Amino acid sequence: MTSTPSKQRVLSGMRPTGQLHLGHYHGALKNWVRLQSEMECFFFVADWHALTTHYEHREVVEKSVYEMVIDWLAAGLDPEQCTLFLQSRIPEHAELFTLLAMGTPLGWLERVPTYKDQQAKLKDKDLSTYGFLGYPLLQAADILIYKAHFVPVGEDQASHIELTREAARRFNHLYGREVNFDELVAASLNKLGKDSAKRLEKSRKKFQETGDAAALEGAMGFVQTHAELSEAEKERLQGWFKGTGRSVLVEPQALLTEASRLPGLDGDKMSKSYGNTIAIREERNSVEQKIKRMPTDPARIKVSDPGNPDACPVWQFHKVYSNADTCAWVRDGCSKASFGCLTCKQPLIDAVLTEQAPMLARAQPYVDNPQRVRDIMHAGTDRARQVARETMADVRDAMGLNY
Ligand code: TRP
Ligand code: SF4
Repeated sequence: MTSTPSKQRVLSGMRPTGQLHLGHYHGALKNWVRLQSEMECFFFVADWHALTTHYEHREVVEKSVYEMVIDWLAAGLDPEQCTLFLQSRIPEHAELFTLLAMGTPLGWLERVPTYKDQQAKLKDKDLSTYGFLGYPLLQAADILIYKAHFVPVGEDQASHIELTREAARRFNHLYGREVNFDELVAASLNKLGKDSAKRLEKSRKKFQETGDAAALEGAMGFVQTHAELSEAEKERLQGWFKGTGRSVLVEPQALLTEASRLPGLDGDKMSKSYGNTIAIREERNSVEQKIKRMPTDPARIKVSDPGNPDACPVWQFHKVYSNADTCAWVRDGCSKASFGCLTCKQPLIDAVLTEQAPMLARAQPYVDNPQRVRDIMHAGTDRARQVARETMADVRDAMGLNY
């Protein structure tokens, strides 16, 4: 591991409910791959989450867990740079979920837009379950247990991150002030020395009276640099400064993917249930056939009919895969009917195959030797568990559960 504790932490998860496709790659994975070299990243297989919608189809989940990890590795996630793990092997997630559940108003969960949306969308499944309602709170536990600063997710998940922030705030509000909070703060101030303590108290007064952002920023930075304070002491002092108590749990931020949205072959959202996908590890021949069969602008019946790229799903693919010159060539040739649609699709076929070649090559050793995938997950899960345990010790402590 090259990560250092001072790096900002990123966490995200994916539900193992089937083969990953290019929509996942362009919408999420590509971003994860970039992040792994910039921050300390944890990525996990959300198998419990998959069961909230697939509790009657555990075979789908079971089959998809390691296949999905192979897709991740194919896409370029590097277990030397990031931590990959499996949710259900870290029961601490469930423990935090339970503890958060105690103080979470039902209305918070009922109001999450995905709750009603998904129920309406997935009509063939009975989603009026306790597990499905609780899904976003389990997600909050996934995130908070790693004290993640950033959570790369799609737009559809923004409300889950907002709920996570509320859950963290509520927890800190309820449990962030130990019984002897004031004494502990005084002891930490003592460690800083008289002058520093005085300055900090003055600046706290200013901040609490006027909301002076510069005072806040200065104080947070000042506390952070004091090596003689433990992490818990720093958090407590920062909480004291803000008047909120100690931040036992950290409020994360959504990292909305500026997704180069790749729609499905038919122009609709790419999704396995619509049968309009190209898998991350799709056979070369099949890629070619699928693109050749893509529907085009319906107004272009004969080669001599001019077309409009904006009414064509192939153009959406060009926008993701082709450079400016090729895009100009497409728009020009389409509107002047100077070539047929198969000609227009050829650079796309080449681009997708070129993108996939290194992915297939990276996946091969894992396909040949599935034990390597298990070993990677095992090592990553051990690392993640370490962090989860530390947070839970802190959480139990804050809640007074250390009898
Ligand atoms: N809910 C996410 C999805 O459907 C998956 C997920 C579960 C997740 N836990 C998470 C994503 C924690 C980010 C962080 O895509
Ligand atoms: Fe679509 Fe290209 Fe055919 Fe135009 S020429 S309709 S952009 S496939």
